[in-house]
Amino acid sequence: METQIFRVTSEKDEAIDRAAEILKKGGIVAIPTETVYGLAGNALDGTVTDKIYAAKGRPSDNPLIVHISDLAQWAPLVSEIPEAALALAHKYWPGPLTVILPKSEIVPDEVSGGLSTVAVRMPSDEIARAIIEKSGVPLAAPSANTSGKPSPTSAKYVIEDLSGKVDAIVDAGDCSVGVESTVISLCEAPPRLLRPGGITPEMLTEVLGEITVDDAVYNKLADGEKAASPGMKYKHYSPDAQVIIIKGSFGEYKRFIEENRTEKTVALCFEGEEKELPVRAVTYGKRDDSSDQAKNIFDALRRVDELGADKVFARFPETDGVGLAVFNRLVRAAAFNIIEV
Ligand code: TXA
Ligand code: MG
Repeated sequence: METQIFRVTSEKDEAIDRAAEILKKGGIVAIPTETVYGLAGNALDGTVTDKIYAAKGRPSDNPLIVHISDLAQWAPLVSEIPEAALALAHKYWPGPLTVILPKSEIVPDEVSGGLSTVAVRMPSDEIARAIIEKSGVPLAAPSANTSGKPSPTSAKYVIEDLSGKVDAIVDAGDCSVGVESTVISLCEAPPRLLRPGGITPEMLTEVLGEITVDDAVYNKLADGEKAASPGMKYKHYSPDAQVIIIKGSFGEYKRFIEENRTEKTVALCFEGEEKELPVRAVTYGKRDDSSDQAKNIFDALRRVDELGADKVFARFPETDGVGLAVFNRLVRAAAFNIIEV
């Protein structure tokens, strides 16, 4: 398949119409959002979403998020919108928040991965919303990476993973948030945070009161344990190199690397620290800035592979606010391997 590349700089570019035309005809198109690039297709047509699973090599029991550009598109997708869901939407949409509710009949099983629920979000990225609006249907869109690879925060990674496998890729530069949306399920009380992201637990609590944080956010699922969010059970975001998170001060981290390095060791550290380390390093943002780390973490995970690293020793990030999302992605890349020094 030949993949068309559309470079766009604003939601008014005419390439947006061309992308929407392809989507209207049942094609699949990678689109920018504020979180990561998504691989979009008509969410109401199971034959289209099957093509999305195939292009990503994604297991078919891992459900897709449905993207809308207008609140009016939500009600037809779900059995009902409770007060709490509306309150969340009013406060945080458009934005990096995905809300799970019981689904309606029009959502195909291919989209919900066979579950009785559906995940919906309204992205804040203007180009994403323009594409959804012009295509005239809600768009199912998982992250636009090959399944198991770090999510793409710039079009070059989408091109790397999906060229030749999708109808088109809309290139609008780098994503502003850099980690995927926060996923919250309102199908139980109290609501359950399934995946941390740009909307923090504190921000959710402000609207919802008490929430629970799913165990899979912090811990590895036991063999055979059922995941509330099927995506959590798959190995994720993994570079080819083995990643180990080193918990301790910078001095202790540096000493650990000095004592344990090989030729191919790469450090995954905060900006500025690389100058003091005896190995090659990739940085993932400023030390005291979780939002900056979120923006850089996936890019950094791709770069360590480009360096041909065998072992990657990563700095332990702060885990409050957006930091929880950074930690969650990093600990998955590390297959939960943390060493305290
Ligand atoms: O920021 C994002 O959410 C990006 C952009 C493209 O919007 N999309 C994204 O999609 O990250 P994806 O497919 O890579 O991640 C969706 C996650 C998966 O972990 C999936 O298991 C979970 O959401 N999910 C989707 N529908 C669900 C449902 N009905 N119940 C539980 N988990 C669900
Ligand atoms: Mg993904």
